[in-house]
Amino acid sequence: MSADTEQSQPKITLRYPVRTLDGLELLPAGAELTEDVMSEVAAKGIKVRHETCPLLEYGSIREDLKLFIKVPPYNKFFSSVSNMMALLKNLSKTFMPVPVLDTIKYFKRRDFYTYQHILVVFAISTAIARDLLGDSASVSDIAIVGPTHNIGKICVPVEILKKQTPLTAEEKDMIDHHTAAGYVLLSHYLGDHESLACRAARDHHERRDGSGGPRGVKQTDPLIDIITVSDIYDALISPRAYRPVSFDNRSAIEVLTDMASSGRIKWEPLRSIISRNRRPYVSDREANISREQRGSSPPGNVYDYIDDK
Ligand SMILES: [Fe+2]
Repeated sequence: MSADTEQSQPKITLRYPVRTLDGLELLPAGAELTEDVMSEVAAKGIKVRHETCPLLEYGSIREDLKLFIKVPPYNKFFSSVSNMMALLKNLSKTFMPVPVLDTIKYFKRRDFYTYQHILVVFAISTAIARDLLGDSASVSDIAIVGPTHNIGKICVPVEILKKQTPLTAEEKDMIDHHTAAGYVLLSHYLGDHESLACRAARDHHERRDGSGGPRGVKQTDPLIDIITVSDIYDALISPRAYRPVSFDNRSAIEVLTDMASSGRIKWEPLRSIISRNRRPYVSDREANISREQRGSSPPGNVYDYIDDK
């Protein structure tokens, strides 16, 4: 990034330290995530050699993912067998450093919502990427983002992640920390702070109109758009700690349509979701989208309608 570009970007200052699961502090609270600081985190990280392993071969991930996506509402999205086979081929090519895989195991044990969510986002985002990009190399880049985009949540106390009542301002700050923490953690583990996975961990709550966070910048990367839309879609159609009743599929798509209409997210990934939910199947290019809102938020939805916090 040029000095000029860097100067024009708002910087993130850490409100809390970033530590790995085994307690290594990568950066303290108060650190500013400048280009220099992040280059140093990545340079130090690359010196630590981490063994890698195929994601689907780690623990029970393959079996768990199959179980998650064969039941409603996901079974409709993944119903085509030929698409499913091609998708599994893509998914099976995803390798990750073992300490990153260990964070997935941590979520399975401590915060099952996050565990299911990151695996489902892995499958949904890779499927959308295949619809929009075919067999391009970018599909493999995206496949690593689903399971890692919320990795920074290992730095958030589990009681807060699982809290069922509205968060205090301090607790909200602690949750919001997960984007910056994920950026630092992945820069350390992948040794490249500019990689898609690192940027997506930082930017998946940014919006195209600048209304998101942590920096409030206009998110313009079309690959991160795919993750963002998959992330919101799954957050809506699955139960969460703070909202035990999920949105029905139709209402979720209407919420996304509203977000695309107002310029917060991109239309293309949403078209892919809609075409996969239509029977008979229509391609994402032919899917017409009604902007009429007919569904509603589920009862007990204390955070209004969106986001995985
Ligand atoms: Fe997130």
